[in-house]
Amino acid sequence: MVKSVVSIRHASPGDAEDIAFVHDVSWRDAYRGVIPGVELERMIARRGPNWWRSAILRGTGLLALEHDAQIVGYATFGRNRVPSMPYSGEIFELYLLPQHQGLGLGRRLFNVARRELAEHGYLSTIVWALADNDKALAFYGRLGGQTVRRAEERFGSDMLTRVAFGFVSAPAI
Ligand SMILES: CC(C)(COP(=O)(O)OP(=O)(O)OC[C@H]1O[C@@H](n2cnc3c(N)ncnc32)[C@H](O)[C@@H]1OP(=O)(O)O)[C@@H](O)C(=O)NCCC(=O)NCCS
Repeated sequence: MVKSVVSIRHASPGDAEDIAFVHDVSWRDAYRGVIPGVELERMIARRGPNWWRSAILRGTGLLALEHDAQIVGYATFGRNRVPSMPYSGEIFELYLLPQHQGLGLGRRLFNVARRELAEHGYLSTIVWALADNDKALAFYGRLGGQTVRRAEERFGSDMLTRVAFGFVSAPAI
């Protein structure tokens, strides 16, 4: 029997190319037809390997999800950017390559990101997703997130709705 190996670890500067690739593929898959095309291309273009390398060197909270020694997902996290909301931590982004979705890996990555936040004293967590991103909404709802806010944000020519999910219970071990 061939066993596959999954691991979740802190990203290092040498991962920048692979994470940029995952970002490119997963964002196109998630947002084509949702975010206006020109704006989506612009958002992807500015997140090349150099952007990721400097984010890692700056100490951004960034986890790499590996499957059989290939990076297939990532999560970024840190202090909540909207301090008026009663959540101390935030998962900024959590993305998997399409062919690695639906296998339980997103849940594992989410749990590790929440544990990392808790280790830094951020016991509650907020996550924002676009209201048109059905997959993300189903995922965060299934993980126990409560919808706590909706907000409009401009993406190029379009105004899109973002939904915030709050998580207050202790992260899964
Ligand atoms: C959203 C995403 C991270 C979920 O990761 P995943 O690995 O596919 O999800 P998992 O397999 O770990 O599923 C976890 C739970 O959510 C549920 N779930 C996941 N996707 C779902 C969907 N589309 N519809 C209904 N339920 C879903 C699963 O059934 C599972 O529940 P269970 O454990 O009780 O059976 C992943 O699909 C992804 O990367 N999507 C594109 C990027 C994105 O939208 N990121 C979030 C933006 S903030």
